Amino acid sequence: MGCYLHKIVVRGNKPLFGEVEIQGAKNSALKIMAASILTSEPVVIDNVPKIRDVNVMVDVLEGLGLTVSRNDRRIVIQAKGPIGIEAPYQLVSQMRASIVVLGPLLARLGRARVAMPGGCNIGLRKIDLHIRGLEMLGAKINVGQASLEAEADVLVGANIPLDFPSVGATENIMMAACLARGTTVLDNAAREPEIVDLADCLNKMGAKISGAGTSTLVIEGVDKLKGASFRIIPDRIEASTFMVAGAITGGDVTVKSVDPSHLKMIIKKLKSVGCDVTVGINQVNVKGPAVLEAANISTLPYPGFPTDMQAPFMALLSLANGKSIITENVFENRFSFITELRKLGGEVDIERHHAVITGGSLLKSGAVRAPDLRAGAALVLAGLAIEGVVEILDIHHIDRGYDSFPERLASLGADIKVTKDESLVELSLAEGDSYQVPDVGVGI
Ligand code: UD1
Repeated sequence: MGCYLHKIVVRGNKPLFGEVEIQGAKNSALKIMAASILTSEPVVIDNVPKIRDVNVMVDVLEGLGLTVSRNDRRIVIQAKGPIGIEAPYQLVSQMRASIVVLGPLLARLGRARVAMPGGCNIGLRKIDLHIRGLEMLGAKINVGQASLEAEADVLVGANIPLDFPSVGATENIMMAACLARGTTVLDNAAREPEIVDLADCLNKMGAKISGAGTSTLVIEGVDKLKGASFRIIPDRIEASTFMVAGAITGGDVTVKSVDPSHLKMIIKKLKSVGCDVTVGINQVNVKGPAVLEAANISTLPYPGFPTDMQAPFMALLSLANGKSIITENVFENRFSFITELRKLGGEVDIERHHAVITGGSLLKSGAVRAPDLRAGAALVLAGLAIEGVVEILDIHHIDRGYDSFPERLASLGADIKVTKDESLVELSLAEGDSYQVPDVGVGI
């Protein structure tokens, strides 16, 4: 029992004020954890966020036989002794990012088996670039209904052009190529800050990777990698979400411990809707305007506008003055949020991968379901701005990627509660109430 009975209840129309510390990046932590498969020595990772996806990755790695110890935001992982080759369905189905163990297992053990998660969002098509890249390094990959099996006596460096700068494919291929014979050149590689973070960590482990952060990665294979100690970069998506919380409520919110250079596109768009944004050394302050202006947004691979912030910005633009257009270029079917937004009165028309948002329409109370992680957060943001009460169900999705999201919004002055087993639990940090992260749910 438990998580499906939880819901968040927000009473909005209240500006948020204050400062919030941003955690380490989910999408960096998960991959660096997987990278520890590549060495028998301990890898010490700091600034790891306390989120459910990290728990799932711990389960994946422990399931493979690695030892994992955790102390607050530090995780120490060691892949010594016999290591398994299989990431099972029960875990892969919870978190699609589990696929990132494929490259490291193949490179270290010459074999890997990863369950196919199934489901419409997560089909085979979505990992074709991972598969093709690893095949070009010499792996033989057999894709069955239930699982994918990969084998390679030896991996050999190759020139690999990606059809699309996929984050996951870049990471899987980069990790496998670290222990391949010879040099790999990966063209049209993803340029996300999390790729740079992974490459920096791998280089600390003894890999020879250059070009991270550009479209061409050059990886000179080495015989073996060693242990390292590494600190994860701040989570730019979590930071952006709290920045939108300040903007959407007409508040004044400062995100701290961030890297503003990763937030340029978000800052630009927040300014274009009328926010006053001040950038400090490792913090950003956002003051929301009395009236938000409409804007057009197209999601693109980094350094373009992040697809993960598409739903939060749709919530924001629903309150703006005039019509906005959001074009989703990264994920085909990432408009599931719109069904829920409409329940709150949002007026959004979809034409293929364009969403036309009529601003000023988001007005009423309602009950909605978090369809996924970022859309869930976006529904909470909408609730913060609405005059009335918004109930968000299926909040286990939000716990996948945000540490104590309701509590941290409450600390900024939000009127937000989490229900547990039908009884409302008041979020009072002073009284030490804590909201337990549920341990089940399906990730995309
Ligand atoms: C990562 C992030 C996710 C973010 C996304 C895009 C993690 C855990 N997740 O996901 O939060 O939204 O990057 O910035 O890091 N594709 C294929 N074939 C492939 C691989 C991808 O067609 O082999 C397509 C996907 O279907 C999707 C697009 O490429 O339409 C982008 O996917 P990708 O960049 O791989 O995203 P993820 O690594 O899954």
